[in-house]
Amino acid sequence: VTLWLPGDSAAASVGADAVAAALLNEAASRGLELRLRRNGSRGLFWLEPLLEVETPAGRIAYGPVAADDVPGLLDRGLLEGAGHPLCQGPTEEIPYLKDQERLTFARVGVIEPLDLAGYEAQGGLAGLRRALALTPAEIVDAVTDSGLRGRGGAGFPAGIKWRTVLEQPAGPDGGSKYVCCNADEGDSGTFADRLLIEGDPFLLIEGLAIAGLATGAGQGFVYLRSEYPRAIEVLKRAICVMEQAGWLGDDLGGSGRTFRLEVRRGAGAYICGEESAMLESLEGRRGTVRAKPPIPAVAGLFGRPTLVNNVLTLAAVPTILARGAAFYRDFGQGRSRGTQAFQLAGNVRRGGLVEKAFGVSLRALIEDFGGGTASGRPFRAAQLGGPLGAYVGAAQLDTAMDYESVAAAGGLLGHGGIVVFDDTVDMARMARFAFEFCEIESCGKCTPCRIGAVRGKEALERILGDRDLARNLALVEELCELMADGSLCAMGGLTPMPVLSALRLFPEDFGRAPAAAA
Ligand code: NAI
Ligand code: SF4
Repeated sequence: VTLWLPGDSAAASVGADAVAAALLNEAASRGLELRLRRNGSRGLFWLEPLLEVETPAGRIAYGPVAADDVPGLLDRGLLEGAGHPLCQGPTEEIPYLKDQERLTFARVGVIEPLDLAGYEAQGGLAGLRRALALTPAEIVDAVTDSGLRGRGGAGFPAGIKWRTVLEQPAGPDGGSKYVCCNADEGDSGTFADRLLIEGDPFLLIEGLAIAGLATGAGQGFVYLRSEYPRAIEVLKRAICVMEQAGWLGDDLGGSGRTFRLEVRRGAGAYICGEESAMLESLEGRRGTVRAKPPIPAVAGLFGRPTLVNNVLTLAAVPTILARGAAFYRDFGQGRSRGTQAFQLAGNVRRGGLVEKAFGVSLRALIEDFGGGTASGRPFRAAQLGGPLGAYVGAAQLDTAMDYESVAAAGGLLGHGGIVVFDDTVDMARMARFAFEFCEIESCGKCTPCRIGAVRGKEALERILGDRDLARNLALVEELCELMADGSLCAMGGLTPMPVLSALRLFPEDFGRAPAAAA
């Protein structure tokens, strides 16, 4: 009998490794023959550790399984797929999973992360094979036609960025351009990059190799945060497997073209997710933001043309090449094409990853997928797009989750993070936290951010202490205007977003009269 149990950090954090040990021990003492395979988490976090049993009718899910549950599960017919209070039925039929549109995450949880044959059997490498038969310009055209936009948060059209790098002249050394994958996933409440790397690392590597072919870059780097040790380990091993199979290196897929890939570990600074600070860090310096222009696509790593993309942008590319730009473009709405990996976190009953076409409503994500608040108390606010994103309230729950609609609602889709709060949240404290976060994470290069964040936090502390409200609220608004207008990068420039959205939607928490119902 074959069992599947995630070996990624999400499942490990709630005891999956102990469950694995218990299963193997119990099987040995009972003389049972079972094969335990370690997949990635499917992203249904409230069910982790999610144990699956392979049956002729597909996999049957059990969760959340604790090590202590193992003897009882084996006593009560686990291996025969029989019922048990923890049984969730066929995995693919769990509504949370069934109602998703998984393109990028299609294989996560289905295969073993380092099983290249399994990857290929599930459609892997088809995109890279297709790319090898195309010219660089044709690959860029496919990415452009798909409508893919940067998934790191800014949503810049990927095809335009790829074309900019492709059009840069090769250097005297024969063209050292670079592809850098930004895996410095720093937004609070986000985990999609990690889930993808730990669950299906070959997909990211395939996307990177295609990006190398498209832009003429012979070398790629993945910049990963040191807080992600499992992801670093899995990715390094996956790179070795791909090298040995000839899908990386000097003769990529037998084409005679070169693409090498290395992992670089960041020391864990939020600002190193800003692309130019990341490049500084990759070059061995402290992560501070570079003034733009030039943009990295023109002069990036070591001054060379550099394609910088987020994990999920690159991981979307194999699907686009394998199944066609039109297939991908058919998902989504308006100028937001394809799917987005929404990440439900905070005070939500069913936290996890939901990959859906752009346009799904925030309400569907929080209420239908998420099941409302974990506390059972009324929903009050959600922060979209990480710690620099806006708060929204109940009146915005019907917002369609695409770049334009979220922006029209005063927010930021960002990297797809959604952090939920119930009615016990004090939004003035959250506003103070936004300034404090900026104070801690600011690279210190420009004054509005470095000093503004400190003064903003102090003003909020006076507001929280009910001191000189009118003057301090005016000061907060003025500081926000200055930071938004005068900061060099999004860190200082976007910190006003959570502060002002909290102030606008929940004025009663700041000692003001409540806002009229929207
Ligand atoms: P940006 O809008 O300045 O640039 C977006 C990208 O497009 C960059 O890679 C830039 O080099 C490129 N670009 C701009 N003009 C171009 C052109 N003409 N040709 C080719 N490429 C061009 O935004 P930025 O500062 O890079 O990112 C800000 C966003 O980052 C925020 O919206 C936020 O959502 C997100 N963010 C994400 C985090 C995460 O953990 N994923 C953490 C913090 C912020
Ligand atoms: Fe550095 Fe903040 Fe200025 Fe960005 S806004 S460059 S993080 S000081």
